[in-house]
Amino acid sequence: MSTLVIGGAGYIGAHVVRLLLDRGEEVVVVDDLSTGAGERVGQATLAELDVAAPGAQESLEKLMAERGVTAVIHFAAKKQVGESVAKPAWYYQQNIGGMANILAAMENAGVRNMIFSSSAAVYGMPDVELVREDIHGRPINPYGETKLVGEWMLADCERAWGLRWAALRYFNVAGAGWPELGDPAILNLVPMVLDRLARGDRPKIFGDDYPTPDGTCVRDYIHVLDLAHAHLAAMDYLEGDAPLAEHVFNVGTGEGASVRQVIDTLGEISGLDTTADVEPRRPGDPPRLVGDPARIKDVLGWKAEHRLEDIIRSAWEAWQAGPRRIG
Ligand SMILES: NC(=O)c1ccc[n+]([C@@H]2O[C@H](COP(=O)([O-])OP(=O)(O)OC[C@H]3O[C@@H](n4cnc5c(N)ncnc54)[C@H](O)[C@@H]3O)[C@@H](O)[C@H]2O)c1
Repeated sequence: MSTLVIGGAGYIGAHVVRLLLDRGEEVVVVDDLSTGAGERVGQATLAELDVAAPGAQESLEKLMAERGVTAVIHFAAKKQVGESVAKPAWYYQQNIGGMANILAAMENAGVRNMIFSSSAAVYGMPDVELVREDIHGRPINPYGETKLVGEWMLADCERAWGLRWAALRYFNVAGAGWPELGDPAILNLVPMVLDRLARGDRPKIFGDDYPTPDGTCVRDYIHVLDLAHAHLAAMDYLEGDAPLAEHVFNVGTGEGASVRQVIDTLGEISGLDTTADVEPRRPGDPPRLVGDPARIKDVLGWKAEHRLEDIIRSAWEAWQAGPRRIG
């Protein structure tokens, strides 16, 4: 029996792979290494495969049968919002095409359990203090749309052939569980700030005139290790035959931190001068996006253990362990 982690060589997937190996599970990773790296999967078996490519369904089906796969955790996706606006069809091919291949393979191979990386991007621009899973949000870019459609596909497969599924809607993921597993991409706030500091530039803040306490956008930062533990809780929830009360879960802390607060905390922890330049607002940034974590706590018994300082400290340590250390 094994768990198939698709996209397990990536930032978040590699954390889940390590936790699964640590609890003695058999793990097979499928990854095309487009943004991941083979050395991140440790002792897990790695099969290099693009799940959105022609023929992927058959390859996945074979792998699932050969390796006795009983559950799939699906991280593999393209995740750049701006790129998704520029190349919508490709995002649908990658994220939805890949998902369709995986689900068809699971049905044929008789694999029943799936955990899906969804995103707070499904909510778009909600005008609420705390976002609950059942609000009527609407994605405002193709990336968020592919995540919402992904959830619909899972619900359809549940109705059609009894898929057991959970979609975890991640808020702002940051930090590192181990220094060598830091976020390699320069897309989210903390790596973007560190990248600019490493180049000797000042961090940038996009807009300080939002209706928030310090005028900068407020987000819900979640430690990647807490997020990884949420996947284990979801796996345990899907096991057995008990009816599933809920499928969609926010993974956040319920607490907001502003962009300025994150940058200041990084300055305090690193001892660096993080004085930022303020630029105009970027289109499509909601002033505040903070998840209500009540459902995941009630149903899965999970809650975040790490606070903003832990997140920033671990991200800083991971950055310093890498080739682009500062100072
Ligand atoms: N990082 C975040 O803040 C965040 C927030 C919300 C949701 N998510 C979602 O979480 C998931 C993982 O994100 P991440 O930050 O670890 O990203 P990542 O890019 O580090 O990981 C994605 C992994 O999937 C692989 N992959 C991509 N397309 C593939 C394909 N067609 N076939 C096989 N492998 C493929 C990549 O090589 C990589 O190893 C994604 O689905 C992303 O949309 C991430």
